[in-house]
Amino acid sequence: MTAITQQAPALLAAESVDANATFQRAPAAPNLPAKPTKFIGYFLAQNRWWYISILLLETAHASCGIAVPYAIAEIIRGVTTASEQSLSLIENLKAPLWLFLGLSIGEVLFGRSAGTLQMWLQPVQRQDVTRALYAYLQCHSFRYFSSDYAGALAHRISETSMGVLQTIWAILFDFWPIAIILSVSIGLLYTAHPTLALFVSIWSFFFILISYQMAKRCRPYAHKASSARSETNGILVDSVSNLSTARFFARFGFERQYLNARFEKELKPIRVANNYSERVRWFQFVSAAVLKVGILYFSLTLWGQGKIGVPEFVMALSVSLLIINEARNLSRRFLDFFEYLGNVSNGVNTIIVPHELVDASDAVDVKLNHGEIEFRNVSFSYAKDKPVFDNLSIKIPAGQRVGLVGYSGSGKTTFINLILRTYDAQSGEIFIGGHHIRQLTQDALHTQIGLIPQDPTLFHRSLIENIRYGHLQASDDEVIEAARKAHAHDFITTQGEGYQSLVGERGVKLSGGQRQRIAIARVILKNAPILILDEATSSLDSITEESIQVSLETAMQDKTAIVIAHRLSTIAHLDRILVFDAGRIVEDGTHEALLQLKGTYYQLWGRQTGGFLPENYE
Ligand SMILES: Nc1ncnc2c1ncn2[C@@H]1O[C@H](COP(=O)(O)OP(=O)(O)OP(=O)(O)O)[C@@H](O)[C@H]1O
Ligand SMILES: [Mg+2]
Repeated sequence: MTAITQQAPALLAAESVDANATFQRAPAAPNLPAKPTKFIGYFLAQNRWWYISILLLETAHASCGIAVPYAIAEIIRGVTTASEQSLSLIENLKAPLWLFLGLSIGEVLFGRSAGTLQMWLQPVQRQDVTRALYAYLQCHSFRYFSSDYAGALAHRISETSMGVLQTIWAILFDFWPIAIILSVSIGLLYTAHPTLALFVSIWSFFFILISYQMAKRCRPYAHKASSARSETNGILVDSVSNLSTARFFARFGFERQYLNARFEKELKPIRVANNYSERVRWFQFVSAAVLKVGILYFSLTLWGQGKIGVPEFVMALSVSLLIINEARNLSRRFLDFFEYLGNVSNGVNTIIVPHELVDASDAVDVKLNHGEIEFRNVSFSYAKDKPVFDNLSIKIPAGQRVGLVGYSGSGKTTFINLILRTYDAQSGEIFIGGHHIRQLTQDALHTQIGLIPQDPTLFHRSLIENIRYGHLQASDDEVIEAARKAHAHDFITTQGEGYQSLVGERGVKLSGGQRQRIAIARVILKNAPILILDEATSSLDSITEESIQVSLETAMQDKTAIVIAHRLSTIAHLDRILVFDAGRIVEDGTHEALLQLKGTYYQLWGRQTGGFLPENYE
């Protein structure tokens, strides 16, 4: 377990295939397979009756289409054997005419029924995949989300859901009908003459094989071309989002040239890919010609030898035309298919990797009676050989309000991360409210902690929804009360739509200080027994901070509170101050006691008050 947590998720992805035995999955996560094909199979199985119905309808649809030449042959047989031209002929042709009519109607009915089922299933299936992937993703650890590709995860999810759909559709609506048409054709031609059937069999074999091979060889070229296109797009997006910089540096011309230079570079891979596509098209045309000419040649020869009649001759020709029509672009379809499958693989390999932090099977979901926090001989490091904590022990009794200070990088945020179980310590034990942290479910743990992070982000939802996030059942009055306590009410009412105003993605429409006050309001509303503030008031001006400090005092009452602040005046009055230095707690005591010590805290305090200790000290 500890060995696994030391690795980046990308490594875990590579291992997941052969390490299925130890594949760790959060109990709440859906049981999604980690292999792309099995992943698709999982969703196929979920809607199996829909897919079986579509498959049957498509089979009927394709069979009707390809059997039409047979009906035509029968009609022609009737016409050519009739002794004279008269309407009574229609009487004699009743059976093949009905067949023709039935096949034509069947083709439409079966085809459209399959289409209707597809139309119904499509959005549901996409949602199913998205839902499952999202639920799986939720259980990933903080470490997972802080890796590079985290930003692209949402895109991955939608691409994977589309990929699953497109892969299934390609099989059902592209490849399956072609398979049916080729086999029915070969059967029909066999009834005419085995030579014809043999010829089409051989042709089909090579046609499919070569189409597949060409698609496979085209893949890297297509891939290069599409990454060249997306790189250009990235440069364009970057350029557009920096337009104002370009304007103020008078660099419009430079930017246009920059883009032109990129266009030059993009051309080569795209031309190579297009060239290859053109070659594929040549192959399609030539093989279509081979089929037509071959069928014509063989059926003429057979007719000449008296082995088949005119009806069979006509049937063979129409069958060949139908095959050409249906099997057109088979290479292209293979190529698309590979791409869809590639998208699914990408998504599955990125998202369906083992979960790092999983609730123990016997973890309990209890409400804590008190907010005591205890570290016993805790050692922790983010990366090997770079320990942050080595054998750290500390006890914070319930109801104590503790300030954490120390130089940047000394481990304050890490301390909090361990309390929140964002990471698991490599050794030692952490107790929260008397429970071993690993014996609590993560939900239980997080319900008991109110956190105001250094840089809080908000949902792109209304202000009231953002605050109510702390307590979903809170009434409007309670929300407003919390906002007042956080000194957010006044600025909220000046927003265009008051509490209903949207805050922009991640809260961009608010200033840093306003965002922080919303975050404070939402935690006040949550009213959890443990309160953690990581530089919670750092973005506020001193006046606002002072007034919020009062509300925070109220919020901290009867709670275990941990407050990180660089501005020491905000924590000086707390019950206890812990001074961190390179992962160790070097000083521990009240403000007064620590000043007496004349150690690190004393120095920090001296610096911040301009070298002068406050007058009331002494
Ligand atoms: N996600 C991470 N991965 C690897 N190392 C990390 C990570 N987060 C922090 N560190 C390292 O751990 C050490 C402690 O960092 P931490 O964030 O706990 O410091 P801090 O005391 O909160 O600093 P600040 O006052 O600047 O917020 C630092 O050396 C830092 O570089
Ligand atoms: Mg920090």
